[in-house]
Amino acid sequence: MSIKNVRLEVMQAIEPKVEGFIDEFLIPTEKIWQPTDFLPDSQSDDFFDEVEKIRGEAKELGYDFWVTLVADTITEEALPTYESWLMDVEGIDQHNGKENGWSKWVRAWTAEENRHGDVLNKYLYLSGRVNMREIEITTQHLISDGFDIGTDRDPYKNFVYTTFQELATNISHKRVGKMAKKKGNPLLAKMCTIIAGDEMRHHLAYREFVKTIMGQDPDGMVLAFADMMKKKIVMPAHFLRESGGTIGEAFEQFSNCAQRLGVYTAQDYIDILKKLNDYWDIGNLRGLSEQAEKGRVYLMKLPERLQRISERMQFSQEQYTFKWVEANGML
Ligand SMILES: [Fe+2]
Ligand SMILES: [Fe+2]
Repeated sequence: MSIKNVRLEVMQAIEPKVEGFIDEFLIPTEKIWQPTDFLPDSQSDDFFDEVEKIRGEAKELGYDFWVTLVADTITEEALPTYESWLMDVEGIDQHNGKENGWSKWVRAWTAEENRHGDVLNKYLYLSGRVNMREIEITTQHLISDGFDIGTDRDPYKNFVYTTFQELATNISHKRVGKMAKKKGNPLLAKMCTIIAGDEMRHHLAYREFVKTIMGQDPDGMVLAFADMMKKKIVMPAHFLRESGGTIGEAFEQFSNCAQRLGVYTAQDYIDILKKLNDYWDIGNLRGLSEQAEKGRVYLMKLPERLQRISERMQFSQEQYTFKWVEANGML
């Protein structure tokens, strides 16, 4: 059987379980937080006082911080790219007449994710520290440019990617929240922490999808995992650009900011990989095909290899001035 047909069969075999995954890992719409819970209530007489407070607190935050928060927000705002990409993955079928668990998952996941960009965007707007028009242009560019994460339409590779990325976003939102708290911005801290909580639930879900597939098709799953790690997991916003810039130009500069700030680093990438190797028990998998066994050995050796490389890695300390944030003399 071709790889594509095996994938389809495995996705169909797991599909009845997806309803259970939705119940376990997502929160019903009526019960989950909404952006407004963390923002000044515009119907209240205190609205302007609360906005004033946000603007005052925001003055304590430095340049790299704002750049990172802006890029995190834009990454969340590019959600249409992720939903349309996932809907096109092999086995995720929205057209087969009856309700397909996988497409239901993608829609429900999207609906949760959509709140992230919404709350952060409104916060940035109220903060008065950033150039919203430039941010909006970048967001429009990013959605229009799309992305290429190297997963094709392969569900195995896509689920490795989402497992990895959900944990990466959990880490970065959590750290931004901690910094905001330390600098006396409690409302922003709460927002970032609650978003980080969503990302963690999503990570646990995608991690479970991969584990379930591993039980059905270990050879195929290990090879897909190894293949994704060989290509490297790119960030969903790797095409980021500013107005007048070319595709991807702003991304490297933003990565330097995040690295300098310690919000998301090369070490985090290695730590995530180790966690995935552990959870999917790559070290103890036996009885694989010859090719998959090679992939398994590669995955087991990879963290150490990346560790050696990261120790030699240099990243720029030079401050690049983004159009999104005016230079304010604060790092
Ligand atoms: Fe998110
Ligand atoms: Fe996410």
